[in-house]
Formats: sequence, C-alpha cells, structure tokens
Amino acid sequence: MPPAVVFPALPPELPVLLLRWYDRHARTLPWRENPTPYRVWISEIMLQQTRVETVKPYFNRFLSAFPNLCALAEAREEQLLKLWEGLGYYSRARNLQRAAQRILTEFQGEFPSDPVQLRQLPGIGEYTAGAIASISFGLPEPAVDGNVLRVLARVTEWREDITRPAAKTAVSAALRKIYPQDRAGDFTQSLMELGALVCLPGAQPQCDRCPLNQLCRCSRNDVWREIPVKPTPRARKIEEWTVLVLHCGNRVALRRRPAVGLLAGMWEFPMLPGHLSAEEAAAALARMESGWQVAPVRQMTARHVFTHREWHMTGYSFDCRSMPAPFTWATPAALNGEFALPSAFSAFRQLLTHLA
Ligand code: ADE
Repeated sequence: MPPAVVFPALPPELPVLLLRWYDRHARTLPWRENPTPYRVWISEIMLQQTRVETVKPYFNRFLSAFPNLCALAEAREEQLLKLWEGLGYYSRARNLQRAAQRILTEFQGEFPSDPVQLRQLPGIGEYTAGAIASISFGLPEPAVDGNVLRVLARVTEWREDITRPAAKTAVSAALRKIYPQDRAGDFTQSLMELGALVCLPGAQPQCDRCPLNQLCRCSRNDVWREIPVKPTPRARKIEEWTVLVLHCGNRVALRRRPAVGLLAGMWEFPMLPGHLSAEEAAAALARMESGWQVAPVRQMTARHVFTHREWHMTGYSFDCRSMPAPFTWATPAALNGEFALPSAFSAFRQLLTHLA
C-alpha cells in the first residue's frame, strides 16, 4: 500500500489575506452574479477542462435556453448537445440532464445542499459538490481542483504527486480547518481565482502580486518550477483518419457516431481509417454504396488533440451524384442549427463554404 498522504497545516491567516485580495481583484463573471445552485452547477460543469473565456458565451446561451431545472430536464437531446457543441466531453451535458431529472423526482425540484446527497447525482463529484455547497449554500466545504492543488502545494512547498486521489483528500482536510464560516463561497472562489490570475500553471507565477507571498515557501525558496509534482503524462496515441465531406446539391452527408465510446452519439462527417488517397477514398465509397458516383473536389488536413489521443486527418470534399441512405443529408442551415458536430471536425466545415 502506498504511504498515507499528509498535507501540512495551512497558516490560519491565509483566508483573511486571500479574501482581502479577492475583494479587490475578483473578475466579474456571469455565474458569480446571482449564484443560485443551478447557475453554479452549470458553470462548474462547463469549467471542467475548459477556460473561463471559452465558457462565458456557452453559459449565457445555455441559461437562456434552459433557465431552470424543469427546462433542462425536459430538453431535447439534440438541442442540449447543440448547445454543448465545441465544449467537448459531451457526457457532461447528458449527465446534467439526468441529474436535473433526478432532482425533480427525488428532491421535489429543490437542489440538495448536503455534499453527500449532491455527490449521488450523475456527474457531480467531490469538487462540484464542494463548489455548490460553499458558493451557493455558504457551507464550509472545500472544492479542490487542479488550480487549488497547485496554489496550496506551492504555498507549503509540498512535494507529493498531486495527481494521486489521496492528494485531494489531504488538501481538503487541511482546508477544512481554516475555512471561514462567514465567507465560505468567496473563499472557495478566491482560491480558484488566485490559481487563474496569479499562481499560474506552466508560466512564471506573479509572486510580486500575490497576497500569499509572505506565507509562500516556494516563493521564498524560489522553487516554483518544481511544484506541483506530477508524473510525466503518457504519450497520446496517434490515429490517422480520412474524413469525407460529401455534398450533393446543397446538402452534406452526416453520420451518427456509435452510442458508446469517444464522442458517443454525436454527428460526424463520415470517416475511414488511415490516410487514403482521393482515389482510394472514392473506391471505398463506391464499395460502401454500390456504383455510387463521386468526384473529388478539394483536399485539406487537420489535427485534433483529445486527452489521450490525437487524430491526424486528411479530408476530401466529394461532389456526389446522389444521396444514399447510410448517411443523413443535412442543409448547411440544419448543420449550423440542429446537428451537433464536435470541434474535431470544425476545420473541415471550410470545405462547405461553396454550399448555399
Ligand atoms: N474555475 C472553476 N470554477 C471557477 C469559478 N467558479 N470561477 C472562476 N474560475 C473557475
């Protein structure tokens, strides 16, 4: 068994210093105005793996379409996924809807404040439960994500691997001892804010602007480059694909991805494994739908990076003589308005600019 992970005691003056800074420097963000549990929940799920500036317009569109739990619970899946298009990790959107349905049936439409109950809902883990409980309900519940781990590992010069699950538990336990009872939500957000604005990942942290500078062992010993400690990430798997942008008149061929696995249930341009020449791709299409006539028009390449794999894609646009059934033939307006096409395929949309 790996040795127990222990995090050092945090300085008791940390919350006061950080909150004083937060009061002057906190960004105005849409979910910070009127932080209801619903709004905080949606924002925190969107903010997982995604930058604040990217999330803002998604958050506003989502809240306009689904202003409350009932609207979300009753949403059509296509509309839900369309509003999530480009954010990635689409199971997050489906889990939001499943959780909304459960809150309506099991909690009479009232968001639970108890983190234990929150964690039983689909897609809500320890971090999100802590964020909702503290930011919306004012409970002294920590919400420890990568930013918070980095900030506190640097303050204390903690040299444990922060990717171990036990690291979060240890940091949460240390935080609980200093959580301010009267400003729990602001304290949660001030830790995130410091990680986003001052104690930066990768780049040089801005120690001269940091409210915790006097307490920070990494700053004092000039060792911020060494912390946080993480194992070297494993190399991503490279996959080669040929993407087919098939058009006939002003319609384009789409296909639904399988219900499980990467980009489950999302729409895609049809793809074939490997990097094929235009002739090979045309021959594969003729085999797929016998005697189907297609003529290659344009070619381009693109890459897309997922968490554990990269797609290296060669794309062709083909002018087609008919619209065979294995595909769904969408107008550009429908592609923009209804079908959720993951950003892995965004680059190939430019092969469609000639369509009306
Ligand atoms: N990142 C995750 N949650 C956040 C929040 N509430 N505000 C700013 N950045 C965040």
